[in-house]
Amino acid sequence: MRLRLKHLVATLVAVPILGLLVGWLGLVPIGASGGHWAATDWFLHWVMRNSVRTASLGTTVPPLEDPAMLPLGAGHFETGCAFCHGSPAQDRSAAALAMLPPPPNLSEVVPTWTDAELFEIVQHGVRLTGMPYWPVRNREDEVWSIVAFLRQLPEIDAATYRQLSGLAEPVPGAVEPPALSCDGCHAEERLTGRSLIPSLAGQSEAYLLDSLRAYSAGTRASGVMSVAISALKDEDLPALATAYAERARQRKEPAEAKPAMVELGRTLAEQGDPARRIPACLSCHDKPDANPAFPHLSGQSAPYLQSQLRLFVAKTRGGSQYRDLMQHAAEHLEEADIQALAAYFAGRP
Ligand code: HEC
Ligand code: HEC
Ligand code: HEC
Repeated sequence: MRLRLKHLVATLVAVPILGLLVGWLGLVPIGASGGHWAATDWFLHWVMRNSVRTASLGTTVPPLEDPAMLPLGAGHFETGCAFCHGSPAQDRSAAALAMLPPPPNLSEVVPTWTDAELFEIVQHGVRLTGMPYWPVRNREDEVWSIVAFLRQLPEIDAATYRQLSGLAEPVPGAVEPPALSCDGCHAEERLTGRSLIPSLAGQSEAYLLDSLRAYSAGTRASGVMSVAISALKDEDLPALATAYAERARQRKEPAEAKPAMVELGRTLAEQGDPARRIPACLSCHDKPDANPAFPHLSGQSAPYLQSQLRLFVAKTRGGSQYRDLMQHAAEHLEEADIQALAAYFAGRP
C-alpha cells in the first residue's frame, strides 16, 4: 500500500515535468497543414457546441423580423465576414480554406444553431480558431442585426445578397471583384423611413468628420462602422465628410406614427419639459445659426434616431468632444419620449 502511494506521487510529479520537457524540446506540432486527427476535430467541435449552448442559456432574443435589419446585417457581413466565410456572391478563398479549422460555409451550418447561440458566437468569437469577437462593447443591437441576417442567409441567392448589401455587380473583364463602398450602405436612394443606417446627406462637414474621427479613435462605439473604416487612414476622412455634406437629404416616407405621439415629440422638441429637466432639442438642433458640430435630425429615419437616443440614455453613445452636452440633454428621457421625439424629427421637413 505504501509503495503504491509512492508510485502515485512520483507519477504526479513526473508527468507535468515530462510535459514541460516535450514542450521545451519543441516536439509539439503546431503546424496547421497536417490538420487535426478526426478524433481531435470531433472533440473540439463537441466542446465548442456545448460551450456555446451553455453560454447562451440566459439570452433573451429580441424580435428579429424587422426587414431593416437585413441591409445592415448583409452590409456588415460583406465587409467583416465574407472574406473568411464566403457569401452567396463569392466562394471561400483558398487562403480561408487553408485555416485550421477552416471557416465553414455559413449557409450550410446556420440552421444547426439557435438565434441565441449565433448571437453568442458573433458577440464573443471562438477562441483558438480565428473567429473574431464583435470589435466594440455595448452594441448588442448591431449583433442582433447580424443574427437576423444569418437566419435568412440559407435562402439568399447572389442577386438578393447584392441587393441587400449594396454590393455592386462584378464588372466584366475586371481583375478585382467589387468591394462594398460607403454608398453600399449610405446611398440616399437605398435608405427608407425605416432604415437603421443613417442618412449622411444634409449633415455638416464638421459633424461628419467629428463622427468619423470618433469611430476611428474608438470614442464612439460601432462594430459596423469601425470595420467599415478600418482600412482608411486619418487623411482620407475629410474628403469623405466633404462629399457627403454636399449631398441633399431626400424626403423619405416616415414610419407610421400616431398623431398624438408626433404632437408630444413636437412639444418636447420646441419647449422641452422643465419639470422633468428635459431641454428643448431645437435650442441646439436644426436651427439656422446652430453650431455645425450639432447634427441635423429632421428627415432622419425614426429607428436610427431611437437607437442613438437609447445609447445616449444608457451613456454608451460616445461621439465628439461635444457628446457630453447631448448625454446631459438625454438623461431624463423615457422610452415613450424617445419614440415621440424620433417620430417628430423623422417627419419634420
Ligand atoms: C478571420 C476569419 C473569420 C472572420 C473574419 C469571421 N469568422 Fe466566423 N469563423 C471563423 C472560423 C475559423 C470558424 C470555425 C470555428 C470552428 O469550426 O470551431 C468560424 C465560425 C463561425 C460560426 C460558427 C459556425 C460553425 O458551425 O462552426 C459562425 C456563426 C460565424 N463564424 C459567423 C461569423 C460572422 C457573422 C462573421 C462576421 C461578423 C464572422 N464569422 C467572421 C473565421 C472567421
Ligand atoms: C455595412 C454598412 C456601412 C458601411 C459600409 C458604412 N457605414 Fe457608415 N454607418 C453605418 C451604420 C449602421 C451607422 C450607425 C452607427 C452607430 O450606431 O453609431 C453608420 C454611421 C456613420 C456615420 C455617423 C452618422 C451620424 O449621423 O452620426 C458616418 C459619418 C458614416 N457612417 C460614414 C461612413 C463612411 C464615410 C463610410 C465609408 C468609408 C461608411 N460610413 C461605411 C453603416 C455603414
Ligand atoms: C445642448 C445642446 C443639445 C441639446 C439641448 C440636445 N442635443 Fe442632441 N446632440 C447634441 C450634440 C452636440 C450631438 C452630437 C454628439 C456627437 O456625436 O458628438 C447631439 C446628437 C444627437 C443625436 C444623434 C444624431 C446622429 O446623427 O447620430 C440625436 C438623435 C439627438 N442629438 C437628439 C436630441 C433630442 C431628441 C434632444 C431633445 C431632447 C436633443 N438632442 C437635445 C447637442 C444637443
